[in-house]
Amino acid sequence: MDFLTELEAKINLVNGALQKYFVKQENYQASIYNAMEYSLFSGGKRIRPVLCLSCAELFGNGEEAMPFACALEMVHTYSLIHDDLPCMDDDDLRRGKPTNHIVYGEGMAVLAGDALLNLAAETVLSHAQLPPALTLEAMKAIFVSSGTEGMIGGQVIDLESEGKPIDAVTLMAMHVHKTGALMIAAAKAGALVGGAGREDVLNMENFARYVGVAFQIKDDILDVESTTDVLGKPIGSDSANEKTTFVSLYGLAQSKKMLEDYTQKAIELLDCYGEKADFLRELSLFLLRRDR
Ligand code: IPE
Ligand code: IPE
Ligand code: MG
Ligand code: MG
Ligand code: MG
Repeated sequence: MDFLTELEAKINLVNGALQKYFVKQENYQASIYNAMEYSLFSGGKRIRPVLCLSCAELFGNGEEAMPFACALEMVHTYSLIHDDLPCMDDDDLRRGKPTNHIVYGEGMAVLAGDALLNLAAETVLSHAQLPPALTLEAMKAIFVSSGTEGMIGGQVIDLESEGKPIDAVTLMAMHVHKTGALMIAAAKAGALVGGAGREDVLNMENFARYVGVAFQIKDDILDVESTTDVLGKPIGSDSANEKTTFVSLYGLAQSKKMLEDYTQKAIELLDCYGEKADFLRELSLFLLRRDR
């Protein structure tokens, strides 16, 4: 199977599982389910769940990883709903559609984000089929990485550095946390569920750290170089919010060089797995070349 066919197959599996885990109730809370559904099924690239599944497949069976993979996508979707709020990046377009708060209002968007975070935990607790100790370890990776020492911590740096320059070390810490952390969690949870030993779990976390930083560098580049039509979100959002990004600190040419370097470093960490890691190699390159 070629890479794009395999990627599409994995995305379809993730979408099917998300449909299964997201059960919409028709009671007096109906509006929150609509708001959650709107963002969860609005055409995301599903990179984090695909990363989780393929790391599990590298070491064993990917099937058991699905609840964890979907939990990651729920956390990611919540982070985007909140990231777009007027009090954060104040963006009105996401995945080519009006952002959650534009459609449902700010209050409901806050609640939809919160509810997706809860649903992520519920999904693992209700659907994981693994021994409890392993389930807890993989679950801990997801919820620590999305918290104050992970994604939220990165968003704190992002918010506090608006309108003022930050140094290279702080910028790297921001990218490692706000975007790297969920990728690291995806790789760690996947590897654990797949049955990897300690050394391989650590290796895959390092792989995902490079992928995550590269992913955010590319996101910063696309904010400058893409078009709203292709990207599905407003371009120029970072400069409008006076954010320090890889592009604002290093310029476009140097950022592109760093994007390639980090992708290369990620791929080198897969050398020890031979052909079995081909999908992850191709995925790293796909993320480097993506246009949205
Ligand atoms: C966007 O993530 C936010 C970042 C962390 C850069 P994605 O580019 O994965 O967004 P979707 O899920 O495909 O819309
Ligand atoms: C988002 O970073 C990281 C999150 C944790 C949501 P950005 O603010 O650059 O993401 P986009 O560009 O809005 O998708
Ligand atoms: Mg942001
Ligand atoms: Mg944003
Ligand atoms: Mg961005």
